[in-house]
Amino acid sequence: MRYILSLDQGTTSSRALLIDHAGQIVAVAQKEFPQLFPRPGWVEHDPEDIWQSQLAVARACLARAPTSLVGNGYSRAPAIAIGITNQRETTVLWDRITGKPVAHAIVWQDRRTADRCDQLRREGHEALIQRKTGLVLDAYFSASKLQWLLDHVPGARQRARNGELAFGTVDAWLIWKLTNGRVHATDASNASRTLLFDIHRMAWDEELLDVFDIPASVLPAVVPSCAVLGETEPDLFGAAVPIAGVAGDQQAATFGQACFEPGMVKNTYGTGCFMLMNTGTVPMPSQNKLVATVGWQGPAAADPATRTAYCLEASVFMAGATIQWLRDGLKMIASAPEVEPLAASVADAGDVYLVPAFTGLGAPDWDAYARGTLIGLTRGTTRAHIARAALESIALQATDALTAMMGDSSLAVRELRVDGGACGNDLLMQMQADFLGVPVVRPQVTETTALGAAHLAGLATGFWADGAEIASQWALDRRFEPSMSETARRAKVERWREAVARSRAWART
Ligand code: G3P
Repeated sequence: MRYILSLDQGTTSSRALLIDHAGQIVAVAQKEFPQLFPRPGWVEHDPEDIWQSQLAVARACLARAPTSLVGNGYSRAPAIAIGITNQRETTVLWDRITGKPVAHAIVWQDRRTADRCDQLRREGHEALIQRKTGLVLDAYFSASKLQWLLDHVPGARQRARNGELAFGTVDAWLIWKLTNGRVHATDASNASRTLLFDIHRMAWDEELLDVFDIPASVLPAVVPSCAVLGETEPDLFGAAVPIAGVAGDQQAATFGQACFEPGMVKNTYGTGCFMLMNTGTVPMPSQNKLVATVGWQGPAAADPATRTAYCLEASVFMAGATIQWLRDGLKMIASAPEVEPLAASVADAGDVYLVPAFTGLGAPDWDAYARGTLIGLTRGTTRAHIARAALESIALQATDALTAMMGDSSLAVRELRVDGGACGNDLLMQMQADFLGVPVVRPQVTETTALGAAHLAGLATGFWADGAEIASQWALDRRFEPSMSETARRAKVERWREAVARSRAWART
């Protein structure tokens, strides 16, 4: 037996998974690494921590591979190829000669460059940026973070001009380390999160580089998401392994859910929610404050799986984190799973709404000044009503996101594919189907991010024949059918929107 090794470098932990030909996970290793908060609003990672934790889990995962009889004895089954998926936007800058980072990575959550983005908005750059990149001008994306590093790390700008420094998102950093500096590359899905990449031409853009004052010499080559881009240094895993698939984590999850056709949508319920819809082979600009992004770039135009796909994306900041707040902030439950029976102990939320705008609102409202709001309390309100309102808030935010997507794309949505930690909550999934009026489907394998990266690598190396083979491996765990009347559904969403309106523009700064 041979496997694909999937490296899933996330915001709080590095993971490695071995995937077999049937798309099943045969071994997993995971390691958390330090989160650095040097100032309020700043979030950093040490790129060496990212690399060392990722290397350690990759080795641990290979060591846990099922043994197979080879020749005259048992040996570890090798990985045929590596797929990489990663936290997106996080910005790393390193020395091309030594391979050492010149500073900590600035993480996607870091807000230190919000002022710079405001300034660029005042200078009138927003429309150009949006048109070329499909993104909104925000500190979330990489460009202003890279500019900050070049401006604040002593000597960095001059060294960058001299061609001594390399920039990359986390995928590029891992590729550099895995190939011992032989390959400096990123894939198009990660490049499309930088604010420097023209998603129409699929190329770095001179005009955008000028806006952010970035020298082109620091940029990685952009490679397809599904192609062999190099081999690992033989010493790392005992043999050179081809790196054959790369995609940002949300795009990889969309691939792992086999959302290969326009109109197919997945939602990942993690700390927040990331919803992505495949919108086809050309970018679809959003009229509803969503972002257009590269799903994946592949070499095979004929295969719906590997041909280039674009997505619309909506990010919701608070999903599972709302339940953590019930647990840690309010101490209403002792553990997150307790929320389901508590919420199910009442028939409805008693007209109570919780708008979890603790850090503002993401798509489609984008209000940094909105704040958490609990409304509709009466003397009869119990913690069960609040728990139910909290669960409903997750489903209602995702409903807003999908409504915006359907408005932008006019594509028919037949079902919502779900993954991420909270998709195991049956009550939440039923609420989701009810509020959307669209069936919700949960696959048996919900490790879709790692699976997507493995699929990309496996398709590039012939491990799987084509997208149809992969799509046939998507197996249903449970389907949740909408059971609410259309009138009740509309009333629910309208009432929720009233609650959202009350949460808006509350914070003073
Ligand atoms: O855009 C940020 C996203 O890629 C982070 O994902 O799963 O590492 O929190 P995750």
